[in-house]
Amino acid sequence: MPILLSATHALDFLITSLFLGSVVCTQFVLKGHDDPAEPMDAKTRARTRALGFILFLTSSAWTLLTASDMAESWEPTNLWTALGQTNFGHLWCIRLILIAILAFVAPRFRNTPWAKVYVVLVCTLPLFATFTGHASAQGSVLRTVADYLHALAAGIWAGGLFSLLFWLSAQLSAKGDAAGVIQAVVERFSKVAMGSVAIIFVSGILMTYQGGVDFLHPWATDYGRLILAKVALFLLALGAAGLNQFIHLRKWKTAGETLVATHVSREVKLELALIVFIFAVAGFLTRTDLPLLVSSP
Ligand code: HEM
Repeated sequence: MPILLSATHALDFLITSLFLGSVVCTQFVLKGHDDPAEPMDAKTRARTRALGFILFLTSSAWTLLTASDMAESWEPTNLWTALGQTNFGHLWCIRLILIAILAFVAPRFRNTPWAKVYVVLVCTLPLFATFTGHASAQGSVLRTVADYLHALAAGIWAGGLFSLLFWLSAQLSAKGDAAGVIQAVVERFSKVAMGSVAIIFVSGILMTYQGGVDFLHPWATDYGRLILAKVALFLLALGAAGLNQFIHLRKWKTAGETLVATHVSREVKLELALIVFIFAVAGFLTRTDLPLLVSSP
């Protein structure tokens, strides 16, 4: 059961991030670079709805598995008690209702003045894990804010890469005259990505310190070893991002947009593959005892 719980939590973190990042990226990075009449807009809407549907499933699975773990039973009455009488149950039932509204009802507001309200509501989704994880258990405001900003930035980076990949492949297959448009979008996204990565790093190191990891011997605890795995994967993903930033994005004039966009897509796929593993580690990390609790029982 513990492995199933961590794996489900990891999957829910990943889908939350793809949904959140796609919505934010489409609204603030891709906006104005795709003609609403174009099928792509319809495709973006369909993809958001599909991600929302999958998110409803992963969050329902995480909520039920955690309730059964708390109740140590699958009896419906015990599950109902675990959901009805715990902070976790209340918050995650609210989250399921919010996801249902955002995924099935609200997408049609995306091209209206309500779009920004929609984006703000989507950005509240990581708060539910923050308020039911180590951050709230430690009861520190700084830790809670760091945890939320960490998950939000991870979502914008991962989901942004995900929607950029679809956008780039649509532009490349369109073979239209996208002169300058691809360059403008990729450069706009790389600024958002650099900001997200900086927030992820600072908040990650802060939470690692507040969790009681010994920076001189991080491998001494399970939690510390998982952090080391995360940092290693993070640096590899930054390596792929660096290829884009410092090599491919400097060849627009010489190599031409189509070739550069093809290379950028390849590195984006590599970044995304590494990020999936980081979310897998995060799912286990959030359910591993903090070193400070291990060292002072
Ligand atoms: C320097 C690199 C990083 C460090 C040191 C780091 C560290 C941490 C720490 C200490 C936590 C809190 C775990 C807990 O006790 O609950 C955490 C949570 C998390 N991290 Fe990272 N992290 C890093 C990079 C990343 C990246 C690149 C991603 C994804 C793209 C990511 C995604 C997450 C997620 C989804 C959580 C769970 C947040 C929650 O509980 O709501 N992290 N990370």
